[in-house]
Amino acid sequence: MPRVIAFFNQKGGTAKTTSTLNVAAALGERGRRVLAIDLDPQASLSMAIGVDIAGIERSVYDLLLEESLDPATVVVSTTIPGVALIPSHPDLAAAELELLNVLERERQLAHRLADADLSAYDIVLIDSPPALNILSINILVASNELIIPIEPHPLSLMVLRRLFDTLGRIRRLNPGLRVDGFLPTKVHHSSRLATDMLDTLAEEFPDLPLLPAIPLSVKGAESTAERISVLQYMPRSPVAAAYREVGAWIEQAGAQPDE
Ligand SMILES: Nc1ncnc2c1ncn2[C@@H]1O[C@H](COP(=O)(O)OP(=O)(O)OP(=O)(O)O)[C@@H](O)[C@H]1O
Ligand SMILES: [Mg+2]
Repeated sequence: MPRVIAFFNQKGGTAKTTSTLNVAAALGERGRRVLAIDLDPQASLSMAIGVDIAGIERSVYDLLLEESLDPATVVVSTTIPGVALIPSHPDLAAAELELLNVLERERQLAHRLADADLSAYDIVLIDSPPALNILSINILVASNELIIPIEPHPLSLMVLRRLFDTLGRIRRLNPGLRVDGFLPTKVHHSSRLATDMLDTLAEEFPDLPLLPAIPLSVKGAESTAERISVLQYMPRSPVAAAYREVGAWIEQAGAQPDE
């Protein structure tokens, strides 16, 4: 079974999708076979990767709600070398209500991934919605590892308490879940706000590593508009370099034994 890593933060706009896309590209560059899963009804990752949402037959929505569906039939190829995708669809927003009637509704994604033949992939990366709902819980129960993208903003720290409360409760359903660390995103290096936030994070969560920081840059946003990764759009930019460092960091974290 490949490592399953979710980019998770219930706060909106912390660069979860941008990071899933560019870390996938970075790991692909390193020769890893990556399966990205878009679990956000906004389908931003699917669109950023260039998938025509209107034209797809099946999405992660079908996968969650159809027990007998073979995940391989939901996977689409992407323009990013080494990266395949299970796309999302706006219908996924309805899954929350539909899951209410399903037994073990928190475990549907975990069951589907456990039953799937994922031998074609080295690593699974999940893009999460900005919410703490039943879809998010499915992600937390199905993942081995979490990376928390966080923006230098005072509000970013306030939402963390609620996230860690939730993680405490999730541990009963998924005892092996490990938080890899915080991924500081949109970091303006000369900004006082960023330095203060990183200091506070290190103080409040001394056991949790900080991943290599992603600098603030309009190139990130531009590459999304171009529907490719920033590694392809601006291979020599500081943002691309930072995401390559994160890819290397994640590989190394996987080489360390679990405590
Ligand atoms: N390094 C960066 N520098 C500047 N802007 C960035 C950077 N990374 C991402 N952005 C921009 O920030 C916005 C939010 O990014 P993104 O959609 O990845 O966040 P998200 O956490 O997935 O949002 P949501 O919670 O809505 O899913 C986008 O407009 C994106 O282009
Ligand atoms: Mg997103």
